[in-house]
Amino acid sequence: MKILVTAGPTREAIDPVRYISNRSSGRMGYAVAAAALERGHDVVLISGPVAIPPPAGARLVSVVSAAEMQAALEARFGWCEALVMCAAVADWRPRRPRTLKIKKRGAPPVLHLVRTPDLLKRVSARKGERILVGFAAETGPGFLKEAVRKRRQKRCDLVVGNDVTAPGAGFEVETNRVAFIAADGVTRLPLMSKRDVGRRIVDWIEKRAAPR
Ligand code: CTP
Repeated sequence: MKILVTAGPTREAIDPVRYISNRSSGRMGYAVAAAALERGHDVVLISGPVAIPPPAGARLVSVVSAAEMQAALEARFGWCEALVMCAAVADWRPRRPRTLKIKKRGAPPVLHLVRTPDLLKRVSARKGERILVGFAAETGPGFLKEAVRKRRQKRCDLVVGNDVTAPGAGFEVETNRVAFIAADGVTRLPLMSKRDVGRRIVDWIEKRAAPR
């Protein structure tokens, strides 16, 4: 299958030397890409800035900002049969990034932020027969409810929900504890390596695609 994977954070410029971003390491998305390649799928990996190497065989498209990720995603969405949207797209960006470095003398600057578009929600409007997998990064109790909401709102076939503050889960670690939220219910998976979570996601996609 042709599988498009997004991974990593995005960076939103404040000025030429500063940005806002988040703690995503890219590990989960890279693990999905590696698992898909292992099964012989054709993989394009759209990645924000991360410190890990891409899996061998993936076609890597490197982006920095949410706007760049949106352009890369929209350009390749038509190509794919399945999209796995692991990227931690920044939800806000500075309204008007400065072209020159903000000097520290004077009053501290006030950042005016504006929302970035919801990339997954936008491409899902032209879903067609594609299989869409989203993630839900939550903190604390109630994460399942939020994941269920995101599945509906973003027209996903599957949402992989995780409490990123739970032990062994979340950013910068090699393991994750997730739940699969699909139309037919919720399946909680035990703590496992991100590579194994990636394999389970690829299994799910393959099964879903099989009867077609
Ligand atoms: N996502 C996206 N574009 C954004 C934000 C999120 O495409 N601007 C995608 C993520 O890649 C993920 C899913 O939407 O697959 C859910 O992301 P998450 O950060 O959990 O949720 P948000 O939509 O940002 O909602 P909230 O702020 O309510 O948690």
